[in-house]
Amino acid sequence: MKILILNGPNLARLDLREKSHYGDLDYPQLKKGIEEKASALKIDVEIRQSDSESELITWLHEAADKKQPVIFNPAAFTHYSYAIRDAVTMLKAPVIEVHLSNPLSREEFRHTSVISGVANGTIAGFGIESYYLALIAMQKLLG
Ligand code: DQA
Repeated sequence: MKILILNGPNLARLDLREKSHYGDLDYPQLKKGIEEKASALKIDVEIRQSDSESELITWLHEAADKKQPVIFNPAAFTHYSYAIRDAVTMLKAPVIEVHLSNPLSREEFRHTSVISGVANGTIAGFGIESYYLALIAMQKLLG
């Protein structure tokens, strides 16, 4: 089963964002790093990014229909999108929330995640390693 890795808004422009939170990593490097780690773990992945709430919801619906596991960085939608939370709630296979930075050590509006309560777990604050840890956790969840 292919694991769907979804990335939300502004992550495709990672190299232009705050270096103090995201370092020098750009999106192609993030994608390549995840693909290489997945391949080393013998996990099949498909990585997508969208700035659109609607597109992310469509992809979550497809994952629900296919009973596909999801590793999800909802980016800023994490903090306020009930529509995305509702779509995550409908998933049938495990879902892991990931963040590059640690939202709890940032501005107060980032301290709320409307996604965490409907995810199997959350990994945050380890840069690209958050995704690597999520791959390992997902592998264990899927047995
Ligand atoms: C993020 C954290 C969010 O607060 C922020 O809006 C992002 C990226 C992260 O990966 O650290 O866009 O999800």
